[in-house]
Amino acid sequence: MSALKRTLATSLALASLVYGAPNLEERTLDPICVQIASAISSASDVYYALDPLYAKGVSHWASSSSQLPNCVVEPGTAADVGIILGIVGSTRTPFAVKGGGHASNPGFSSTTGVHISMYRFSEINYDATSQTVEVGAGLIWDDVYAALEPFNVNVVGGRVTGVGVAGFTLGGGYSWKTNQYGLTIDTVTAYELVKPNGNVVTVTESSDPDLFKGLKGGFNNFGIVTKFTLQTFPQTQVWGGLITITAPHIPDVAAATAAFQANVNDPKAGIITTYNFLLGEPGISQLLFYDGPTPPAGIFDDFLAIPYFTKDIETRSFSSLVQASPSNATAGSRAIFNTVSILEYTPALLDVILNETIFWGTNLSLKTGTFISYDVEPFLPSIYTHNAQSTAYPPVRSQGLTPFNIYYAWTSSIFDSDFHDAAKASAAAVYNAALSEGQSGIVGAAIYPNYAIFDTPLSDMYGSNLPALQALKAAVDPTNVMGLAGGFKF
Ligand SMILES: Cc1cc2nc3c(=O)[nH]c(=O)nc-3n(C[C@H](O)[C@H](O)[C@H](O)COP(=O)(O)OP(=O)(O)OC[C@H]3O[C@@H](n4cnc5c(N)ncnc54)[C@H](O)[C@@H]3O)c2cc1C
Ligand SMILES: *[C@@H]1O[C@H](CO)[C@@H](O)[C@H](O)[C@H]1NC(C)=O
Ligand SMILES: *[C@@H]1O[C@H](CO)[C@@H](O)[C@H](O)[C@H]1NC(C)=O
Ligand SMILES: *[C@@H]1O[C@H](CO)[C@@H](O)[C@H](O)[C@H]1NC(C)=O
Repeated sequence: MSALKRTLATSLALASLVYGAPNLEERTLDPICVQIASAISSASDVYYALDPLYAKGVSHWASSSSQLPNCVVEPGTAADVGIILGIVGSTRTPFAVKGGGHASNPGFSSTTGVHISMYRFSEINYDATSQTVEVGAGLIWDDVYAALEPFNVNVVGGRVTGVGVAGFTLGGGYSWKTNQYGLTIDTVTAYELVKPNGNVVTVTESSDPDLFKGLKGGFNNFGIVTKFTLQTFPQTQVWGGLITITAPHIPDVAAATAAFQANVNDPKAGIITTYNFLLGEPGISQLLFYDGPTPPAGIFDDFLAIPYFTKDIETRSFSSLVQASPSNATAGSRAIFNTVSILEYTPALLDVILNETIFWGTNLSLKTGTFISYDVEPFLPSIYTHNAQSTAYPPVRSQGLTPFNIYYAWTSSIFDSDFHDAAKASAAAVYNAALSEGQSGIVGAAIYPNYAIFDTPLSDMYGSNLPALQALKAAVDPTNVMGLAGGFKF
């Protein structure tokens, strides 16, 4: 039973104790929720504890990212989002905005106040003439890929199953197609935004260049996005999938990963090498990707020659490749991410990462750790050159960075701070190792906001853009309505 289900069961039991029966009519409903319910149109709804749609609304990929709010609101129109913002703003009620619910930081898309779940914003409108698609902010990438497949086009979106379009796109977006087209934010041509004052606007480069730039990395600081317009690109069948490899062959994987980073500059090729610690042993989950039905000879030979535990590599649809990811194996556990931006995965740095895997895997297993992992995500140094416009993140585009992600999963909340502390200590160890082997370009290099742990200083992510973002925030949201929602705050 997940922690969230346990808490829900407890609140159900408490409700029957206090009220005699878990009966909605006999409970005192939160007055702000009641006010919202009477103000919104019939396109929207409010759900209270005990309703299955309440449970769905508050759920997250990481159970540690969920809280129990007074109610869940599912707005169905942008105008209703404006009404809800008006009520929570004027009553100073804490609230949350949830897209795909994959936030790895506690409180970023959860609240004990009013929880807004965006599910009903689910339209996908492809326009072949402009080669763009309008995508609702309540969708996950899997839905977008499936809808675009019949048109043989695709967007620059998530690499593994289940991730939300909204948070991913508002924070950056490192995709299988990033080597070719840049980050997801580089491919957004318009946002439908509900501003903190309730006004619904379309934000483009020409309508409001400052806000357009701010939304490209600025998460929920400037309001609630209801729709994204994304560029589309041709999509054929792709090649790749998942290989799992056991401890004795890790040196071969490290050698293949370092050689891939050093030698392969085909922008259609990508890998994620995940070092993990599971059931007392280190091991590897190796994702391979080629944006075409058959990779050119040689590119992946080193990986394919390694003896494997399981192997699921084939020519397949893009959707099928994304579904083949192992990303939801730990869904429902407590979780934290942290990250380091580095320039290159060298053999020496990969040795350090293996040592971190074993050190923290062993240490944290004693604290209900179930999955200790390190994602090595090599990208080409040219990834930030696909967009001439400036964006909130990354603040500097002259140097390519390749995000290294730490991901820990565990079960007991009493150990939360041990895992948070370990994720910071381990990031520092990898940073120091990269620095001491001569990667001086990582000093002051921007940290990726979608992987950064909750107390990462804003200047580490937004660099010299921060003062302008703070001024923009003050202008767009003078009464700090969005400060009532969780997340990184300008
Ligand atoms: C398994 C897994 C795989 C991942 N893979 C990748 C990857 O390949 N590449 C990559 O770049 N990142 C990846 N990430 C990180 C991912 O980009 C972030 O977790 C992202 O924020 C998730 O978006 P979401 O909508 O699912 O999350 P949510 O938890 O719903 O939201 C995240 C943040 O965005 C805000 N937000 C959500 N919707 C809106 C809205 N409509 N308007 C304003 N603010 C909003 C929330 O308030 C919250 O602060 C991965 C994460 C996980 C857990
Ligand atoms: C994991 O993802 C697969 C593919 O999308 C899905 O069939 C399965 O139900 C998911 N499992 C969990 C626990 O969410
Ligand atoms: C392994 O990692 C731990 C934690 O960062 C560190 O204390 C230790 O010195 C490392 N060992 C080696 C051999 O690098
Ligand atoms: C785990 O690591 C922490 C931090 O380095 C340390 O204080 C603790 O003693 C370690 N525990 C074990 C059992 O190794």
